Amino acid sequence: MLLVAFINNSLDIASEFNHHLGGLMKHLMYILVTLIFSPFILLQAQNGHSFIGAEACGMCHKTEKQGSQLSIWQNSAHSKAYETLKTDKANQIAAEKGFKTPAVETAECLKCHVSGYGMDASMLGKKFKIEDGVQCETCHGPGSDYKDMKVMKDKDLAVKNGLVMHDNLEKFCIGCHNVESPTFVDMNIDEAWQKIKHSIPKTQN
Ligand code: HEC
Ligand code: HEC
Ligand code: HEC
Ligand code: HEC
Repeated sequence: MLLVAFINNSLDIASEFNHHLGGLMKHLMYILVTLIFSPFILLQAQNGHSFIGAEACGMCHKTEKQGSQLSIWQNSAHSKAYETLKTDKANQIAAEKGFKTPAVETAECLKCHVSGYGMDASMLGKKFKIEDGVQCETCHGPGSDYKDMKVMKDKDLAVKNGLVMHDNLEKFCIGCHNVESPTFVDMNIDEAWQKIKHSIPKTQN
């Protein structure tokens, strides 16, 4: 909790500055965020909940009526983030940065490109696949304890059982989309969100 409060605080201060001083401060903000966020990504997974894998989430999040979350994610770059690390380009980047291992075996690359990296095998369910890259649970938290229908239907209960929601995309997305990424592109978060948005359709009743 303290860490989260610290992150929010630092970011608020950083974006205040950013507002006044423009690009330079934005750059500094990214560095700040990079320093603070990296442990945060790993922390998400260390509260006893385990990963069930995108396919297991997709069982209930795939029809058009539900919002097609599974196919939207499958068609996004996030689902291919692990595959990307197998490319020549990735290996070249890793080598240039001085890593001796192929990118796909390098912790400093995996930490932003997959879910559940470094987790004990007991924390990874049978359907969980590291090959799925940045998947549902990377962003929504490991789902073993909120995946049941009874819990999922009650948002507060789901959150108590590990579901992570985000009301500030800017702060959340730059946890990975920051200058620590060797190929960093300073994307507009609102536009980026439109590319991967997967809302539940509003119904009449
Ligand atoms: C057994 C079916 C089922 C499974 C499995 C399931 N969900 Fe859900 N989920 C639901 C239902 C039902 C809702 C309630 C919203 C709705 O009516 O569509 C929901 C809601 C959500 C919400 C929105 C919460 C809110 O109220 O704003 C998120 C995010 C979510 N699920 C993510 C996941 C993730 C990630 C997984 C895999 C770890 C997962 N779900 C697995 C059925 C399921
Ligand atoms: C856990 C780290 C992580 C988080 C959090 C994350 N991303 Fe990504 N994102 C990636 C990686 C890694 C890639 C590159 C995948 C690839 O090309 O193989 C990527 C790629 C993308 C792309 C495709 C970029 C392109 O040039 O085609 C979009 C769009 C995107 N992310 C949007 C978002 C948004 C919006 C958020 C916040 C809601 C977000 N991401 C949060 C890691 C992350
Ligand atoms: C801080 C998080 C982070 C780290 C660490 C990271 N990446 Fe990425 N990576 C991303 C994100 C986000 C994207 C998509 C947007 C971008 O390029 O910034 C991406 C995209 C890529 C791409 C596709 C870009 C393209 O233009 O084709 C490659 C290749 C890649 N990363 C390789 C690596 C390698 C190799 C490492 C380790 C040396 C690494 N990444 C470490 C977050 C990260
Ligand atoms: C890159 C991060 C990221 C990934 C990957 C991701 N989500 Fe989300 N998801 C978000 C964000 C951000 C929101 C919108 C803010 C919020 O409500 O948390 C969201 C919203 C949702 C909602 C609620 C939509 C609504 O209208 O209330 C559901 C359901 C959901 N996601 C399910 C999934 C499932 C299932 C997967 C995998 C197939 C998935 N998400 C993958 C970041 C992600």
